[in-house]
Amino acid sequence: MSSHPEEHFARKALSVSGTHSLEKKLRLGVLISGSGSNLQAIIDACEAGKLPGVEIALVISNNANAHGIQRALKHKLPVIYLPWRKFPAGEYVDEMTPNEGQIAGLLQFFRVDLIVLAGWMRILGATFLDQFAHRVINIHPALLPREGSGETYTLSTGETIPVIRGINAVKMALDAGLKITGSSVHYVTAEVDAGPVICQQEITIEPGDTEESLHERLKAVEHRLLIEAIRELS
Ligand code: GRF
Repeated sequence: MSSHPEEHFARKALSVSGTHSLEKKLRLGVLISGSGSNLQAIIDACEAGKLPGVEIALVISNNANAHGIQRALKHKLPVIYLPWRKFPAGEYVDEMTPNEGQIAGLLQFFRVDLIVLAGWMRILGATFLDQFAHRVINIHPALLPREGSGETYTLSTGETIPVIRGINAVKMALDAGLKITGSSVHYVTAEVDAGPVICQQEITIEPGDTEESLHERLKAVEHRLLIEAIRELS
């Protein structure tokens, strides 16, 4: 994928006294809003040595009650709760909102290389994303077109299904009567859930599936996909 900016994440070899070389780890900033099971998958992979070139530099939550905060604390990771304030539409045009400015400052202070939206339920604007171009990834519980934009997804069976974006994607897949859905890890661009896909997987919707049962199976897939994506970028 030459158009993909893996080179941004190429780990730099730091030469020490001309004899040793220390590999710089890819430092993750993980943004969460809820349960944090995807954060846990990253923590577990790091601790199990499955992401040797990667470390979690910082976890940020916009929700003080997010269970993910407890997960981060348990593993002694720096975690910050940042309340997300509402601003009237149009107040911050072509500039970051104060929320985004605070996040950007923290990410820089903690020298974050790659920002992982792991169940982050707030929209980040174009100015913020420009500052971290090609350095923000998200996991979305539906199948997105490989190049990001477009309204249809072609399944491995050749059948075409509508693309489901936004929150409630799991419920929308059920309501649409789809037989197959999936999860996608993708780059984040200003258009919501429309950035290029890094990796994804289809899963079958079983008769009798509820939103909860389907989301649980999707999350099991996501936990593997997210690690695969981070490994690819590290
Ligand atoms: C995941 O299903 C992800 O696809 C979506 O939000 C959910 C977060 O789950 N963006 P968790 O907080 O990681 O458990």
